[in-house]
Formats: sequence, structure tokens, C-alpha cells
Amino acid sequence: MSRLRCILRGLDLKIYILLFVLVPTIALGIYVHGQKITYFLRPLWEKPPKPFHEIPHYYHENVSMENLCKLHGWGIREYPRRVFDAVLFSNELDILSIRWNELYPYITQFVLLEVNSTFTGLPKPLLFANNRDQFKFIEPRLTYGTIGGRFKKGENPFVEEAYQRVVLDQLLRIAGITDDDLLIMSDVDEIPSSHTINLLRWCDNTPPILHLRLRNYLYSFEFPVDNKSWRASVHQYKSGKTRYAHFRQTDDILSDAGWHCSFCFRRISEFIFKMKAYSHYDRVRFKYYLDPKRIQDVICKGANLFDMLPEEYTFKEIIGKLGPIPRSFSAVHLPAHLLNNAEKFKYLLPGNCKRESG
Ligand SMILES: *[C@@H]1O[C@H](CO)[C@@H](O)[C@H](O)[C@H]1NC(C)=O
Ligand SMILES: *[C@@H]1O[C@H](CO)[C@@H](O)[C@H](O)[C@H]1NC(C)=O
Ligand SMILES: *[C@@H]1O[C@H](CO)[C@@H](O)[C@H](O)[C@H]1NC(C)=O
Repeated sequence: MSRLRCILRGLDLKIYILLFVLVPTIALGIYVHGQKITYFLRPLWEKPPKPFHEIPHYYHENVSMENLCKLHGWGIREYPRRVFDAVLFSNELDILSIRWNELYPYITQFVLLEVNSTFTGLPKPLLFANNRDQFKFIEPRLTYGTIGGRFKKGENPFVEEAYQRVVLDQLLRIAGITDDDLLIMSDVDEIPSSHTINLLRWCDNTPPILHLRLRNYLYSFEFPVDNKSWRASVHQYKSGKTRYAHFRQTDDILSDAGWHCSFCFRRISEFIFKMKAYSHYDRVRFKYYLDPKRIQDVICKGANLFDMLPEEYTFKEIIGKLGPIPRSFSAVHLPAHLLNNAEKFKYLLPGNCKRESG
């Protein structure tokens, strides 16, 4: 009997050691790597979204518009549609200038809304207003709007984002959008190529709502991530019906229609601002993520700012994307304004990962 008790006590001790050593270690491990564990296991608990209907995209500068429309199964119009480009501006001045120069020939009105609050409710200077003189070329075609943020503490950032998009709808009406005009809905850093917009304004019988498949880049055009960006869309405007949105709105998507350059900033301070202003602020789980030296290292490696695993739906894709993004040495088929001002935008081109401090 007492022997049995002895054994139990011995066992107890082991269990206690186990409890006091193993459990905190596992807890710490889950705390530090929890995100990785859940992302890695994501294929088990989440199904991929319904695939898009991919429309092949044909383009060469020497092919006539009539032929290009025909290749897509569309007719050609007698005159092009008017096109409106509307964005919610945060702090991406360089990317805005590349975007507006790329689209300039084909846009009737550029609409830009700027709010003095980030989606996460932090105060933000009116950066566009303060730098408006850099964009003189756009002035005659610009509808600029600004409103005060709501500064609701602890609210879900997506609520503020939705609110700002509603204001964008009002601004579009002020800009004079009418039925059957084209409206580009995309973030500033989702840049449709100009020939894509020219195609859509000239061709007839194009889908009334069409997503644009963009090439994804991270930090600069040196790091191509994949070709899967899909949020940007082009709409044939219907008053009372069309609402500015940044989620999936239809099944049709036009392949290879531009570039999406995420976190493509000149200064380290802009990375820090974006990491804080981001709708996913919860991803900054540790203070040291915001350390400027670490951020610079991460950029040059093509690694992940939030130390996250790829957000994918199959193990094959997750594993295929583990580790840093392979460098690209190609600067072919990038926005013209970027290459025409290569010195100014050097940090966006291959081989120049060092950023300005401050
Ligand atoms: C494109 O067209 C121009 C003028 O018609 C011609 O000179 C040029 O060789 C063509 N380029 C290609 C790549 O076909
Ligand atoms: C934001 O803008 C609104 C309206 O212009 C103003 O009343 C408010 O003081 C501003 N807030 C900050 C933090 O700048
Ligand atoms: C994107 O597509 C292009 C053209 O099909 C291809 O050359 C390129 O390698 C793709 N990029 C990535 C990162 O998969």
C-alpha cells in the first residue's frame, strides 16, 4: 500500500515538473508562434474562395484597338467611355505620383479623399494637402475632398474604412460621374496599367463589373510575390447602385492588368506609420517589430515585417512561399513614370533596397 503511494508520489513529482516546465514553454511557444501555427494549419479549417473566371488579356503596342477588342470577344465603341479614378489616400505620395502619371491620358476626373485619421483611429497629417503643389499637372482634373476622422477608440478599423468609402461615393457625385462612365475602385498602391484602362474604355460589351488581376510586389519591384492581387475593380457606373468597395464583387477578372506594390515606401518612418495605421494593427505583436534597424534588414532580405507565414489555402502554396521572396532583376513592363524618373524612385527598382532613415 505505502509502496503504491510512493510510486504515485514519484509520479506526482514528474507530473509537477512537467506542469511547471512544459506547460509554460508550450504557452510561450504558442504566444510567440501562435499566428504561424494557425496560418500553417489554415488549409485544414478554411476552404479557398470560389475561383474567379479568368479572362485572358491580350496586349501589344503594335496591335490596333479594334483587333485588341476583338481578341477579347468585345466590340469597339465609336468613342471611348469617360473614366473616373477614385482613391482613399493615406501616405503613399510616390506611389500616387506613379499611379496618376500612368493613368493620366485616360482619366476624366481623379478623385482623392484624405482623412485626418487612420483606419485605426490615429491622427494623421493631411499629407496630400501639404504636398499638393507636386501634383500641379493633375489640378484641372482633380476632385479633392477631406473630412475629419471619427477617432472612435477601440473600434474595429474596418468600420472607419467603410465610413470613408461612403464619403468617397459622395465625392464621386460631386466630381460629376454619370451612368455608364467607368469607375476604377482600388487602393492607391493597386495600379492598373494604362493600356488596360484604354482597352476597357474603348471596347463594348465588356463585363459591367470586372476585377483586375495585378502582379503583387512587396517593398519594391525587386520583390515579386505572386500574380494574385484581385481587389481592384472597374465598374460601369450605375447611379444609386454602384457603391465604392474593396471586396469581391463579381466572378470576372482580367488577367495581368497592372501592379500592386505593398509597403513600397521611401522612408523607414513611413513603414512604421503604415504598420501602425494598418487595419491589421494586431499584427504588430511585439514592440521590436517597429525597430528601424530590423525593418531595414527585413526589407533587404525580402522577409516578412510581421514575421508571418504566407496567407495561403493549400500546404503546397504555403510551403512554396516559405522564406524570403526571391529577388527579381527585371524592370521590364513597369510603369513608365517610374523608369522615366529612375533616379528619384531608385528605391523601387532592383538592387536598391536601402531606405532613407527618418
Ligand atoms: C511596330 O510598328 C511600327 C510602325 O508601324 C514598326 O516600325 C515596328 O517595327 C513595329 N514593331 C514591332 C515590334 O512589331
Ligand atoms: C480633423 O479634422 C477635423 C475637421 O477638419 C477637425 O475638427 C479636427 O480637429 C481634426 N483632428 C485632428 C486630430 O487633427
Ligand atoms: C507572374 O506572371 C508572369 C507572366 O506570366 C511571370 O513571368 C512571372 O514569373 C509571374 N510572377 C510570379 C511572382 O509568379
